[in-house]
Amino acid sequence: MLDRPMVDTRALRNAFGVLPTGVAVVSLHDEAGRPTGVTVGSFSSLSLTPALCLFSLGKNQGSARLFTKGVPFVVNVLSHQLADLAWQFAKPAEDKCAGVALAATAVDVPRLRDAIAHFACHAHAIHDGGDHIIVVGEIVDFDHGEGEALVFYRGGMHKTAPV
Ligand SMILES: Cc1cc2nc3c(=O)[nH]c(=O)nc-3n(C[C@H](O)[C@H](O)[C@H](O)COP(=O)(O)O)c2cc1C
Repeated sequence: MLDRPMVDTRALRNAFGVLPTGVAVVSLHDEAGRPTGVTVGSFSSLSLTPALCLFSLGKNQGSARLFTKGVPFVVNVLSHQLADLAWQFAKPAEDKCAGVALAATAVDVPRLRDAIAHFACHAHAIHDGGDHIIVVGEIVDFDHGEGEALVFYRGGMHKTAPV
């Protein structure tokens, strides 16, 4: 067995938080076929050919059991005007999509209508990543529009600004 050093997870989380990330809501259907979603800062582009993207999800997140089944999903990139949606999808709720404008996509999972980009995906692979799973999606359709991205940095929401 590998002897791992004890890590202060709060300090590690704060250190990770020094790198700004974009904010996305990954939408999918729950077991009952209702739309739901989860806020992620771990979304990243991965490959152009094939068209792949990824995000990581804590194994103890409620939605992790859905993703491990290999269901289709949509990554919705949020604008800075949609910070409230980021918090809404980061909290457990009976209906996380309450009051959210949805629209149809190529994978039959709804996207968030007001997102500045969306990537409709079939599950490509699920990898183990410690206390997270790494979900790799094959992008079957995507779109992007105007608007400035929402940025998560040191625990708070920000706008982008040129340097
Ligand atoms: C800005 C932001 C980024 C987040 N990024 C992630 C992430 O990349 N992976 C993750 O597992 N949870 C992340 N979370 C936490 C989840 O959104 C939160 O735990 C959510 O309630 C999980 O939903 P679920 O229980 O329906 O799966 C993030 C939260 C916020 C506010």
